[in-house]
Amino acid sequence: MGATKRALANAALIVLSFATGSAAEQPARIRIDTERVIGVVNPRLFGNFTEHLGRCIYGGIYDEGNRLSDADGFRKDVLAAVRDLNVSVLRWPGGNFVSGYHWIDGVGPKDKRPVRRDDAWGAIESNRFGTDEFLTYCERSGAEPYICINAGLGSIDEARHWVEYCNEPAHTYYADLRRANGHEQPWKVKIWGLGNEIDGPWQLGHKTAEDYAKFALEAAKAMRRADDSIELIASGSSNFRPGYDWIGWNRTVLEYLKNDIDYISLHTYIGNPENNLEQFLGAGSDIDRRIAIVDGLIRAAEEGQTTPHPIYIAFDEWNVWYRTLGKTEFEIGRKGLEERYNFEDSLAMGMFLNSFFRHANIVRLANLAQLVNVIAPIVTSRDSMFRQTIYWPLREYGRQRGNLALDALVSSPSYTYNGREIGYLDVSATYDPKTHRVFVNVLNRSVDSDIPARIDNLQGQLSPNAGVWEMDNTDLKAVNGFGDERVRPDTRTVKIDVGHNGFTYTFPKHSLTILTLELS
Ligand code: AHR
Repeated sequence: MGATKRALANAALIVLSFATGSAAEQPARIRIDTERVIGVVNPRLFGNFTEHLGRCIYGGIYDEGNRLSDADGFRKDVLAAVRDLNVSVLRWPGGNFVSGYHWIDGVGPKDKRPVRRDDAWGAIESNRFGTDEFLTYCERSGAEPYICINAGLGSIDEARHWVEYCNEPAHTYYADLRRANGHEQPWKVKIWGLGNEIDGPWQLGHKTAEDYAKFALEAAKAMRRADDSIELIASGSSNFRPGYDWIGWNRTVLEYLKNDIDYISLHTYIGNPENNLEQFLGAGSDIDRRIAIVDGLIRAAEEGQTTPHPIYIAFDEWNVWYRTLGKTEFEIGRKGLEERYNFEDSLAMGMFLNSFFRHANIVRLANLAQLVNVIAPIVTSRDSMFRQTIYWPLREYGRQRGNLALDALVSSPSYTYNGREIGYLDVSATYDPKTHRVFVNVLNRSVDSDIPARIDNLQGQLSPNAGVWEMDNTDLKAVNGFGDERVRPDTRTVKIDVGHNGFTYTFPKHSLTILTLELS
């Protein structure tokens, strides 16, 4: 099809999908007003997750004896990529793994640590990587540690002792054990999770909402007695299987724990098994909805209290994951969850992060699952590593940490996803008041239409230079590999015609764009 014909076809599609008006009369619009602030883009939104699963820890971040590792066994090439990604929070040790994990197995001289079965994933756990190795890794990578306790088969007593081991400054049994293991100073771990996906029947030690809430309440009490400065994340529901009352789980947990937790967790994985890009990327509306529902449940739990304890959402597992599923946990574990991400998966990163930015007032922590090899942006072999397609949006969006998330007004051609009308353009915007720069993050979900949008700015004058960062590829299935990181963003500066403090930019079909605008 020639360029003119293609442009006409695109225009026709846009006309059809607008509720009213024609594309010519009513192009897509994005309106930026730096006074309409949703909240701060919390730096904790750019977290990752390292679970004892497949090759995430062993052979991923930690590879004893490898020539690419340092004296402590940390892969230096991976560490450099993790630093470059600027990971803000690292969640550990699971995931499902933690529900059968006893932290005491993973401290002390490595050769004396017990080798255990890992009955979450059907593996063997050497325990050579444990609490001190994890916390050392956090220190070296610059990430804030987030430890999740064993609320499955574990006990409240071991949870409080874990806090004591990590954070106690006095000479107590567990603090002295830490010292004996080479760490005089407390690690000061602030973020603690009260278990992982306990609502899921796949979880070791799965519980009913009431049983979990009672356990978590007592665990919170005991852990805070060990250190009252810690922040706690309750295990919210992540079980969206048809017929399961995930909302009821959260309601119960919030009712019991509303005065004792700082966050409730939410997990979401998406996939494209039917090879339909627009439906795949429509999942952004599920993410928005789930966040809004949990937000509402938090408000409902606060109702009637004069000074409610603030509770936020920790979106502490999210990603694309569908190619490496299996019938049982052991089958999944055997496969190692090594998803090879393609170009279209990189677009999904923008979709998740746009949603988090649009809910910056309530989503204050997030962890992409995971970091290396296992559903991860970084992949290793014994002698090399490469960055998957999804690495680049994570890194670029991360530059907006600390900015003010803006409530941009957006209208765009739309389509139907799950019975809902959603825009082809999925947009978030942030503002950095220190540098007077506005970032407009736009995902064009259309499989075949470039979409021109009029971008208007209400406060301050736009400068005629704009930065463009763009993931755009003709091949939706293009992947990176060892020695071949071909799927990458394109960056450039463009001149924009800023008549009437606005301009038009055409967002290419199936692309992710970040425009950086300067205000004077
Ligand atoms: O990230 C992989 C697994 O997905 C985690 O172990 C679990 O929490 C979730 O179901």
